[in-house]
Amino acid sequence: MKRTKIKSLLNTKAIGQEVCVKGWVRTRRGSKNVSFISLNDGSTINNIQIVAEGDYFKEDLLKRITTGSAISVIGILVESKGGGQNLEILAAKIDVLGDADPDEYPLQPKKHSLEFLREKAHLRFRTNTFSAVFRLRHALNFAIHKFFNDKGFTIIHTPIITGADAEGAGEMFQVTNLNLKEIPQFEGNIDYTQDFFGSKTNLTVSGQLEAELGALSLGQVYTFGPTFRAENSNTSRHLSEFWMIEPEVAFADLNENMDLAEEFLKYCIQYCITNCEDDLRFLDTRLANEEKNLRKEERSEMGLLERLQFVIENDFERLSYREAIDILRNSKPNKKKKFNYIIQGFGSDLQSEHERYLVEKKFKKPVIITDYPKGIKAFYMKQNDDGETVRAMDILFPLIGEIVGGSQREEDLHKLSARMEEMDICKDELWWYLETRKFGTCVHSGFGLGFERLIMFVTGMKNIRDVIPFPRTPQNADF
Ligand code: 4AD
Ligand code: MG
Repeated sequence: MKRTKIKSLLNTKAIGQEVCVKGWVRTRRGSKNVSFISLNDGSTINNIQIVAEGDYFKEDLLKRITTGSAISVIGILVESKGGGQNLEILAAKIDVLGDADPDEYPLQPKKHSLEFLREKAHLRFRTNTFSAVFRLRHALNFAIHKFFNDKGFTIIHTPIITGADAEGAGEMFQVTNLNLKEIPQFEGNIDYTQDFFGSKTNLTVSGQLEAELGALSLGQVYTFGPTFRAENSNTSRHLSEFWMIEPEVAFADLNENMDLAEEFLKYCIQYCITNCEDDLRFLDTRLANEEKNLRKEERSEMGLLERLQFVIENDFERLSYREAIDILRNSKPNKKKKFNYIIQGFGSDLQSEHERYLVEKKFKKPVIITDYPKGIKAFYMKQNDDGETVRAMDILFPLIGEIVGGSQREEDLHKLSARMEEMDICKDELWWYLETRKFGTCVHSGFGLGFERLIMFVTGMKNIRDVIPFPRTPQNADF
């Protein structure tokens, strides 16, 4: 008999019909006379209840139906007598497909800590929280492609192995197949001509530079791929391997870039609200329960769903870096030296405590900061006439901080070249990038959205390790 997924069963309400479901047991309770099995198959956060009457099923079989085991059930779909659910299956036949020895199976029906579940990343998909998070991750992935497709963007698969350091920050993982015990040398340096690609290569930190090449012909492109950063920041917002979406648009200036980013973020959030109601409602309750244990001043002012709605309905606040610095310098926590990093004035980089102050305390909504000092931004950004700032924009979100980083690009060959020299960026390695400024250059802009940071915001998960199936962080590449 063909299996029906629990999600469609709960929607179709084919009451009185014989159905077959397969899934993993969440709990079994009951008495000698009757067992109630809560079954989940991953198609929805909702379980279906299976009623197995005692005189119908042998005790040996029922004993094997433990939390985590996989079973197949054939039975009649009926309206539920008990409270809590509308439908249940009156079982006629149950097969145990895979046992899960209760003495060894690590997940119990009780609540486990997220830290514990990180060590059981191979099994954490089977919890309500993680199945909801990963269904939302899927929905966001789909929404992103749909958004750009509907707008006529072309996806560009940019290389994962590259010789370039797009951000110029030197935080790269090297890729080599040289024998590390006998590294070939030439005139006192490592001889990369003998390495696999004949040159020094690394995992990409961003697909932007290649995306720009595509945009300067296809007009509107985007990348969506894994990126890798060897920064030693062990925070709840950084991964060593994360996914980034990078649109790049020809003939668009910074304002159009900000408009696109704001529309894009709102679209993705709205897509989840429309299509993932059950999962979001579950996560909303989960977050509310979690926050009950926090002190009042640590709790968020809004619930998860309320916050998502709020972001969709309000314009993001746009201000320049100089305005942001003025606000921060005169803010209470700065004057009372409550910030870990005191804002002195122009040139200070914004730390996450400052970003959160602006978003959560001052404006109470997403904030876009533009025109940063050139010294704290990448070489490719469009230089302003003041000689001090660049046409950068960062989007800051409540609880997350920076979720998007982007800019208008320097399209003037001479200015770009001069800036690269100033910043000691090797022009020879990026000759192809420079050629786009030589042949048919034009105003263009783009940004990068950290995919996991968006998932954190939409799910309310507070640690980035809990929104990617198998996180890579310093000292950890398990699974
Ligand atoms: O601000 P970033 O470094 O910008 C770029 O890489 C540009 N090339 C983007 C562009 O203009 N095309 O990174 C973009 C975003 C950040 O705003 C953040 O959301 C995310 O990527 N991000 C990280 N997410 C998780 N872990 C990390 N270590 C991250 N570093 C950046
Ligand atoms: Mg950034």
